[in-house]
Amino acid sequence: MISQELNDSLTRVGKGSDAGEVLRRYWQPAALSDELQQGRPVVPVRLLGEDLVLFRDTEGKLGLIGRHCPHRGADMCYGRLEDNGLRCPFHGWHFNRSGQCVEQPGEPEGSRMHEKIQTASYPVVEKNGIVWAYMGPGEPPEFPNFDCFRAPDTHVFAFKGLWECNWLQAMEVGIDPAHASFLHRFLQDEDPADSYGKQFRDKAGNTEIPMTKLLRDYPRPEIQVEEADHGLKITALRHMEDGRSHVRVTNQIFPEAICIPMSREMTITQWHVPIDDENCYWYSMFTSFDKPVNKELMREQRLKEHVLPSYAPKKNKRNEYGYNPAEQESETYTGMGLDINVHDQWAVESMGAIQDRTQEHLGKSDVAIIRYRRMLRAAIAAVKEGREADLPMAGGLDLGSIFGPISNDSIAQDGDWQKAAEEADDARRGQCSWDASV
Ligand code: FES
Ligand SMILES: [Fe+2]
Repeated sequence: MISQELNDSLTRVGKGSDAGEVLRRYWQPAALSDELQQGRPVVPVRLLGEDLVLFRDTEGKLGLIGRHCPHRGADMCYGRLEDNGLRCPFHGWHFNRSGQCVEQPGEPEGSRMHEKIQTASYPVVEKNGIVWAYMGPGEPPEFPNFDCFRAPDTHVFAFKGLWECNWLQAMEVGIDPAHASFLHRFLQDEDPADSYGKQFRDKAGNTEIPMTKLLRDYPRPEIQVEEADHGLKITALRHMEDGRSHVRVTNQIFPEAICIPMSREMTITQWHVPIDDENCYWYSMFTSFDKPVNKELMREQRLKEHVLPSYAPKKNKRNEYGYNPAEQESETYTGMGLDINVHDQWAVESMGAIQDRTQEHLGKSDVAIIRYRRMLRAAIAAVKEGREADLPMAGGLDLGSIFGPISNDSIAQDGDWQKAAEEADDARRGQCSWDASV
């Protein structure tokens, strides 16, 4: 249990809030590149509680500026895309990509008032299917050399989905290796050959055991957590009856991402991005170490489950997530279908908009969550005390030298599980068609 005051400090994201100021020191996913390709390239973005508009101007360059016109507050999402910016349709004030007002056609001839009118604006860059924004002070940091950024565009597929809850509880489900044995339990095993683009449907490591069976049979993983340059490295060991161990390496990437294996071919790097205090988007980058990603199939699978333009899941609290008690008896642990995203969504949304952590009871299996909260508290203190160099991935650290992070499933024949994980990772990188060497 933690105090209400600490819960507020860790969860709230507005400008000037504790966690919000930490998040503002890192690049944030603002939109999918796909969103700018669906018709007119102007989309509303609500990020860290701020209302913004993202657009691609006539020169093909991106801008992210305040959503409400500084004149009398009209919605710039309906703006006219002109020259290198957006023009408000109400009285024609024109803003360039950097948020500077460059023209006020209704003001008296020769007026220089516009020189003093500047709306919010943030740097944006596009990388492998996602538009990233930097909303903090000073120069934005470099991008780390993570696999999802290094891989060519052909080998990365990005998608997002809405969850109606605070970002922290959303992220915490991703650093909780024990839940997969319960929440995602399938009472029958599917043919792993039918697993493309899905999680926990492949075979475990280099065995013939379906992941679903392994998770079901060994529900008490030994969990080890180590601090790493990128955040936390989390190893879940499932010691099997025959003396072998299943080794699953996942990661927390500070401040709000995780990196986990999806299948032998792909990893998922997933950000849990605050829209505001009570809503968030997950943004996933599926990175293939093998063939180019079949983006059409991956997109089609996910569009079936989501409504555009909000990317809200079709199964949600208003329709009880499709809960079916008969299915819960015979097929799945949740009774909410086979899509594990829905299981996670139910778990984190059902806690309430912001989980009341004054009432929780963390166990040994929550070790990574405990370690992460400690890191976040240290980061909050560092920002407050002006020690920004102490933040993870800051302080002159060469971000180009931060690779990976390593995320995979493997089988250790004996006790040397570190070696098993490293060998599996070397093998994957060794046969990769792009340069995945570390
Ligand atoms: S409200 Fe935008 S120009 Fe007047
Ligand atoms: Fe999960």
